[in-house]
Amino acid sequence: MAIIAPSLLSANFLQLENACNMINASEADWLHLDVMDGRFVPNISFGIPVISAVRKATKKVCDVHLMIEEPEKFTQAFKDAGADILTVHVETCRHLHRNLQQIKSLGMKAGIAINPHTPIESIKEVIADADLVCVMSVNPGFGGQQFINATLSKIEKLKNIIIQSNAKTLIEVDGGVTLENASSIVKAGANVLVAGNTVFNSKDPAEAIRLLKNLS
Ligand code: DX5
Ligand code: ZN
Repeated sequence: MAIIAPSLLSANFLQLENACNMINASEADWLHLDVMDGRFVPNISFGIPVISAVRKATKKVCDVHLMIEEPEKFTQAFKDAGADILTVHVETCRHLHRNLQQIKSLGMKAGIAINPHTPIESIKEVIADADLVCVMSVNPGFGGQQFINATLSKIEKLKNIIIQSNAKTLIEVDGGVTLENASSIVKAGANVLVAGNTVFNSKDPAEAIRLLKNLS
């Protein structure tokens, strides 16, 4: 069974507490929090004060996905805000190995996110240093986009790299995950499914989470 991480980006921002309560009572394992800066991605979402507030309302693991330039400047701030997992994009890190060590030295799990066009081989040398790889299955910046099918073979390639390196890195898949494609994503090797639109635009979000959990 996969770890299910609903993405708060698709929630009603006027009712974030309700969203947290729903997730607390659901079969979700993690809460995925998307931070966007309008520079690395063409959109701006929410930041540190919102995550601090959400942290107080959730019992779930806070999985923070940074879509920002120079993420190393904010590692301590996201730790203080309550992040359990901090994921940075390989495309934003000139010193990725150092960034991962910095995140772990503060007591968080360290993740690497990778855009659809970036070859998976670009993170091979640091795979054992990452607790998680977030494979982007859409171009980051917006919820509700369509899953890019080439991601499936990318997940398989990554799985092989992890096995060959004897690493324990989890594979997270982010973007366009639906009740229809979740099983094939898990079959390809994913351990964690992020879902925004599929959860929050469903009539019964807790049921959508349950279905994802039991499909995968
Ligand atoms: C996209 C974000 C995703 C997004 C996923 O840039 O990283 O986490 O919230 O949303 P869905 O599941 O709707 O594609
Ligand atoms: Zn995300």
